[in-house]
Amino acid sequence: MKAERHVLITGGAGYIGSLLTSELLRNNYRVTVVDNLLFGGESLLGFLHHPNFHFAKADVTEPHKIKDVVRDHSASDNWPKPDAVVHLAAIVGFPACQAVGKQVAWKYNVEATKMVFEQASALGAERFVFSSTYSNYGLSPDGKPVTEESPLTPQSLYAETKIAAEQFLLAQKDAACSPLLFRFATLYGISPRTRFDLIINQFVLDAFTKRQLLIYQRGYSRSFIHVRDTVRGIMMGLEAPQPKIRGQIYNLGSDDGNYTKDQIVKLVLRRMPETEVEYKDLTFGGDMRDITVSFAKVKRELGFETTLNADDGIRDLLFALKTGLIRNPLDERYRNAQFIVQ
Ligand SMILES: NC(=O)c1ccc[n+]([C@@H]2O[C@H](COP(=O)([O-])OP(=O)(O)OC[C@H]3O[C@@H](n4cnc5c(N)ncnc54)[C@H](O)[C@@H]3O)[C@@H](O)[C@H]2O)c1
Repeated sequence: MKAERHVLITGGAGYIGSLLTSELLRNNYRVTVVDNLLFGGESLLGFLHHPNFHFAKADVTEPHKIKDVVRDHSASDNWPKPDAVVHLAAIVGFPACQAVGKQVAWKYNVEATKMVFEQASALGAERFVFSSTYSNYGLSPDGKPVTEESPLTPQSLYAETKIAAEQFLLAQKDAACSPLLFRFATLYGISPRTRFDLIINQFVLDAFTKRQLLIYQRGYSRSFIHVRDTVRGIMMGLEAPQPKIRGQIYNLGSDDGNYTKDQIVKLVLRRMPETEVEYKDLTFGGDMRDITVSFAKVKRELGFETTLNADDGIRDLLFALKTGLIRNPLDERYRNAQFIVQ
């Protein structure tokens, strides 16, 4: 069957992007991935011979790159221009942004977003899906679950860059290309580029390799979503009617994905009971978010509900580690920064 729709993904070799690529191809989309391969490109090798897949190695912080990629490929293979752009490329996470510093983080996460959006518009794309984060809320002022209307109190450079990019995009809501902003919960689970610098994945890795967990602020709540559900949410955003998405912000996750760290530890212990757990309640200048998130809007407006829970993710991670599907999980390709801040 001939593919009707064409999606261009920046950062398509990454944790979310590589799984999104696979799902879009399975659903008969054409997919162009633009990625500068900060963590390698093995995640894309399985798609290389697919007739609906195209890869271009390019850095989206450089001018015109998206336009160049689309022009070259439509000239050589007669591909149509993309109907939608999913912009995932970024310096991802608080530790990675701290490591590169404000200037570089701003260039990658804010300036590049503006340039990619402007090129998407110029190419005639109808929608632009932006990957933001619930880190933008920082904290809940009244202890209640935060909604898309709650004030933003960023606690990190990473969140500051995402908020600045959001503000630019929200100001473009009357452009021909509709911006759609997802604030993802923290992801977990297996993808072609699994990351082990995310809380649930890291807990499973530590329990498996060290038989030990060191937990800070055990009672703190965070919000989590499986990487496969995230991909489903993005695909719903690509297919939803325009009025549902134009200039809209959606928290992406589910109310039952709000867990305390202690609840996650209990789930890990159920599968690896021999793990020793040490708790510390020190304030260590790290990421002190303690927050629950409301996902009522995405459920009401897009009909989005999650299909997987933290235990599903833990089971699959453990399977990949035990069987050796992931042979050397400590390799730096599985993390965006050398340390994780819980
Ligand atoms: N994983 C999470 O828990 C989470 C939560 C909230 C938001 N997000 C957002 O989702 C997006 C994807 O996250 P991920 O976990 O898949 O991250 P990832 O680091 O696995 O993927 C990012 C990809 O972007 C590429 N990239 C980075 N800068 C680039 C550039 N200048 N040009 C071209 N390619 C570039 C990298 O090579 C990498 O393949 C990010 O924007 C992130 O901020 C992720």
